[in-house]
Amino acid sequence: MAAASPVITVDGPGGAGKGTISGLLACRLGWNLLDSGAMYRVTALAATKKGVDFADIAAITDVAHGLDVVFAPCDEGVSVFLSGQDVSSEIRTEACGELASRVATVGAVRDALLERQRAFQVAPGLVADGRDMGTVVFPSAELKIYLTASAEERAKRRHKQLIDKGISVNLARLLEDITERDERDINREVAPLKPAEDAVVVDTTVLSIDEVVALVSDLWGKIG
Ligand code: C5P
Repeated sequence: MAAASPVITVDGPGGAGKGTISGLLACRLGWNLLDSGAMYRVTALAATKKGVDFADIAAITDVAHGLDVVFAPCDEGVSVFLSGQDVSSEIRTEACGELASRVATVGAVRDALLERQRAFQVAPGLVADGRDMGTVVFPSAELKIYLTASAEERAKRRHKQLIDKGISVNLARLLEDITERDERDINREVAPLKPAEDAVVVDTTVLSIDEVVALVSDLWGKIG
């Protein structure tokens, strides 16, 4: 049997730089990229479009099972199509992130998305970005990174990202949202946000994007 393609997992709280770092790493290595947060976001969006009650776990799980979603690599990372419609911008709103973190607490939804996530592990390799990539989805990953940064710094980065996209947001409100979402992700019963036992924890508060990419590339160079 052919050896499975290598995986680098990049987990951590929102705004720690996972998306940017994972995209740059995948590009540098010529590997595939899994943005697992986008799967939870698109599930939340599909449920909203169908008018599903978020307290109805069976209905939300049906949505996750039946998702007609396509992830297409593009210059900005990945474009996301839901039932043929480009929803790449729509899923990035704070409101959609908030709903995503609610659907992500449902074990049956996580199970429904598991195989879709594992299907990304194809040659020549995969960079997987999320909350439980190293702990649950790819426990045998060759390299596991846990990126973190102070909540204030993460709120500042999200603020800049949104402003750059022309979306106006309040920094203090963003910090509250990030803290609330962290708490939900860390304290949920299924697949809580935490570093895998064998993860390398990288605090990016005072590191530049280039420094983090260089650090992770060096770590991979020593293994790969
Ligand atoms: O990373 P992103 O902000 O796009 O993720 C949206 C939400 O999806 C997170 O707040 C988290 O609750 C959930 N998520 C998750 N497991 C993942 C990726 C994201 O629970 N692997």
